[in-house]
This record gives sequence, C-alpha cells and structure tokens, in this order.
Amino acid sequence: MCGIIAAIGTEPVLASVLRGLQNLEYRGYDSAGVAVGLDDSLAVCKRAGQISALVDDVRAELPDGTRAIGHTRWSTHGPPTDANAHPHTDCTGRVAVVHNGIIENHEVLKADLRDHGHRFTSDTDTEVVAHLVEQCLEAGDETGVAVRQAIDRLAGSYAVAILVDGDDRVFAARNGSPLALGVGADTFYLGSDAPAFVEYTDEVVYLEDGDLVTLSPTSFEVSNDGQLVTRPAETIDWTPGDARKGAYDHFMLKEIHEQPSAIEQTIRGRLTDDGVRLEELEALDFGAVEAVHFVACGTSYHASLYCEQLLRERGVDAQTFLASEYSGSPPPVDERVLTVAVTQSGETADTLEAVRIARAEGATTLAVTNVVGSTVTRACDHHLLIRAGPEIGVAATKTFTSQITALVLLAERIVQDRGTDIQGYPLDELAALSDNAARTLESPQAEAVARRYADADSFFFIGRGPCYPVALEGALKLKEISYEHAEGFPAGELKHGPLALVTPQTPVIALFSGENDRNTLSNVREVQARGAPVIGVVPEGSDLVYEDFDDVLTVPDTAPELTAVLGNLQLQLFAYHVADALDRAIDKPRNLAKSVTVE
Ligand code: M6R
Repeated sequence: MCGIIAAIGTEPVLASVLRGLQNLEYRGYDSAGVAVGLDDSLAVCKRAGQISALVDDVRAELPDGTRAIGHTRWSTHGPPTDANAHPHTDCTGRVAVVHNGIIENHEVLKADLRDHGHRFTSDTDTEVVAHLVEQCLEAGDETGVAVRQAIDRLAGSYAVAILVDGDDRVFAARNGSPLALGVGADTFYLGSDAPAFVEYTDEVVYLEDGDLVTLSPTSFEVSNDGQLVTRPAETIDWTPGDARKGAYDHFMLKEIHEQPSAIEQTIRGRLTDDGVRLEELEALDFGAVEAVHFVACGTSYHASLYCEQLLRERGVDAQTFLASEYSGSPPPVDERVLTVAVTQSGETADTLEAVRIARAEGATTLAVTNVVGSTVTRACDHHLLIRAGPEIGVAATKTFTSQITALVLLAERIVQDRGTDIQGYPLDELAALSDNAARTLESPQAEAVARRYADADSFFFIGRGPCYPVALEGALKLKEISYEHAEGFPAGELKHGPLALVTPQTPVIALFSGENDRNTLSNVREVQARGAPVIGVVPEGSDLVYEDFDDVLTVPDTAPELTAVLGNLQLQLFAYHVADALDRAIDKPRNLAKSVTVE
C-alpha cells in the first residue's frame, strides 16, 4: 500500500500536494517524493525517510507550479532508498510517474525495454511505466495516446498519475488499486483516497477499474475501454481530523476491513497456474530444506503455529518456537534447517535474537515481514514480504491474515520442491479468500453478539486443528484491547484442567472448521453442562445444530483450513466491539506498543 496524490489547476498547487502527502502518510512512510510540471521541464524531489523531511526539502528546492504529483511509499519492490522513491522518470526526464499497486509483468516489460536501450535507475516495478510512455512518445504518439498505450501493456494492480513535460495535463489510471478525484473551485485533485484532499474539496468522484483520467487546468474527462464515461460526484462530510481513518472510528476497524485487499496484495503474482512462485526467494534452495523452525511472538507466533500444522500434515518436519524462550534452550540446527522469523514489524527484539542464534549455529534463515528494510530483513539470509500495507493499530489484524496467506504460499513452495504426492493446500479456495473475507466482514453478527457479552469478566476460546491457533489469536485480541481476561485452548484440553474455571459467567467461543466438528461439539457439551453460554463460530450450511449454541457467528463455507481464517475475522470484530462497548483505547491499548524492541 502506498499513497498517491496529484493536483492541477489555474493556481500553484505544491502546498496542496504536500498537504495531501501528509494526509496519506498512514498508507506508507518509508520514502516520498514530488514532481512539479514547469513551463519547460519537470522538477523532481524525492527521498528515503519520512514526509516531514521531504517537505522541507521540497519547499527549499522545488519551484511551485500549476500541476504536480506526489507519492508516499510502502516498499514492495526494492528497499526504501532515494532511487526507489517515487516519482520515477524515463531516460530523458520528460515523464514522471507515481504508482500504488503491483505491476505483475514488470520483469518482462523491463527486459523488453532494456533490449530497446532504456536504462533503469531503480529496483521498482513502477519505473517501467515511465519508460513505456517514453517509448510511445518516441514513436510519435500524441501524449494522451502514449499514456493509454503504456497503460494497456500493464498487468496487475495499479493507480498511477503521470506528468509529461511539454503537456499541461495530468494523466491517471486505475485498475485494482483505489483512486479518487476531487473537484475543487479552481483545482482538481487525485488521491489514493478522498482524505488526501479533504481540506480542499468535499466533492469526490470515485473512479472505477479500467478508468483513464485526463485532467486539464479547467476540466477533466474519464474514459474506460476507449469510451468516454460519466462518473457521479459525491459529497463527503468528513472533517480533516476524521480523514485518515476515513469512515471508521478506529484504525483497527479500518484495518480489519482492509483485509480483502491485503490478501489480494499478498497473493498477487505469486499464485500462478503452475503453482506458487515466490520471486524474492529464487535464491533459496528449497530442495535442501529438511526441517522448518518458526520463531515468533504474539500474533506472529499464532500465524506460525497455523503454518507448522499444515507443513506437518504434508510430511514436512516443522516446529514453532516462542522467540522469547528460544535463547534459553535453542534447538540443534544446521544449514538443512530453515529458520523462519515471522514478524510483521521486523523489529521485535526477541525474534531478532532468536534468528541471530539460529544463523550463528548454521541454520538458513528467512524473514517473513511486512516492512521492507526492517532489521529482520538484514538479519536473515532471505526475506519474503507479506505486503499488508502499514498497520497503525497496536492490535495486529490485517498483518495476521497476510502472514497466514504468505506462510501458506511458503509452505506450498516448500512442498512443491519435494515432489511428494501429498495432497496440497486448497489453493483454489485461497484464491477465493479475499472475496470470502469481504463477505464475512459484511456480517453485522459480531457487533450484536459482542454487545450482549461485553460485561463478562472472563472469556474462553476453543478450537482444534487450524482453529486452535485462531482460538489463541481470538483470546489475545480480546485481552489486548478490552482488558478483560481471555484464554484460548485446544478444545480437547479443556477437560484436562481449564474446565474447573468454567461457570455460567464464562462465555465460551467455540470455533468449527467443518472437520472434526463432532469432537469440538462434545467439548461444547462439557462447558454447557457447567452452565456456560456458548458462541459458535461456524461455516454457513454446517450440519451443526445451531439451536445448541446461545449465539452464532457464521462464515462462508470453504475448505476447513480457510474456514478457520475467516472465523478469525469474526473474532477480530467481536474483540473490537467488546472493547468499543467498554470504551477502551482501542488503537493504543494501555501498556502495549506496536513494536517491542526490548527483550
Ligand atoms: O512485529 P511482530 O509481529 O514481531 O510483533 C509480535 C508481537 O509483539 C505482536 O504480534 C503483538 O502480540 C501484537 N500486539 C498482537 O496484536
């Protein structure tokens, strides 16, 4: 996830583009840049680092102009460096491009452009767009035609804004990444979302996939598939203060609802007809991996447990270690052990220490993280990005789902190279996970159920198989943000001790996956016999007897492994609404920090 902004009008626009970048900082903040269209050139200023640093440099270095584009980056292709910051330019410096999304065919395009003499100065997928426009201009195309021809060659997801020297327009296109157009009194704006320009106008046109927009200083037109189209304008009533969270009261709720697109980003270009392809890991010899050790903390530990299970089911020796316990009794390792550090922030001290020990002992190390350039990416031999986009809320939500998605791809990649005929993960259902997540999040059930139980002092979460790590995660989420006692257990373990704590005042949330449900139902009977109310998290159409539960949270019917992942979305909403009913500080819960950089 990155943020793009553009403005064009009859008055200078640089201040509004800088303001827009600050409004978009929550979408990415590892590097940023601006390009301004002047009478006879384009002026570009871009930097690794936060927007506040760029703003001072832009004010000092760039002349103002009546058309400009800007970008704040959350790296996916190449580390956060000055060279990889947007805008990207062509060989001549006549074309400047900002982009949000992933261009899946960038390698093929880059090779072709190189063959035609184009020189690249960044590691990004985006730079191909500037060179494609340049190539069309060289062939004699009019600017608007050149832009359209370039866009037509892109595969993947993109929202782009383009400036071309000598043309007084701004061009933009959208496919699979968000882009909104703001209509002001004497200026038009483009932004990854409306909060980018909410200080300047409340009139917004939401663009659709396939739209190509041409903005002049006094008008704009939208075409799709070569035909001019009309997109209605809407009036938004956000104040600038509300803007970053959009329509949501908290970042956590916003991030919960971003999961369908986060899943898409995690999978994009990696799930192919020929199996799983992980471009970043081409140098890793999967055939030499004999065992997999995960090291992680908190939510990342739960994602790791999930992946450990599915590797073991497929015949791979896999274990998960709490990173905070690893240094006390590290397991024996050598280069045939792949030690996978799972950490969304990439900065968790316990995880870094565990990976340091494993690497020193000879293990092959791999970081699975959300943050390009984070410490863990430098501490490991290889790294795989989960591409969830920045997560502001302290409670991990979309990063958990993207971790699971990325780890499933990793597990499949490991199994793929073994050439075993063990049945694989249901990848067709993984491809449908984003849509099923969107359907799950439409459900109003969790809010109503949460408000009924918000006054309870202790909650139990139970599940077996893939629902076990989700039960742990559901409990962690609830305790973090509601400050109420919550514990997760393997369903079959209740009778070995925790059952002693169950009373009519202990709501039990029982997760069902569609596999081994009868056993979990027996465990439900055990708590019901002690008077506990039970909330069943069940797949739609399940033959479980719904009347047996006090309340039900349903998820779309899919493969058991993915039912568990969807069940977690209901648990996130449940935790959120309990905490909201109790008026807790949801985005910044007491005593907790987003990155835990001490052991
Ligand atoms: O950045 P990491 O994934 O390494 O963080 C690990 C834990 O600190 C983290 O998951 C923590 O448990 C979250 N607050 C969970 O919501």
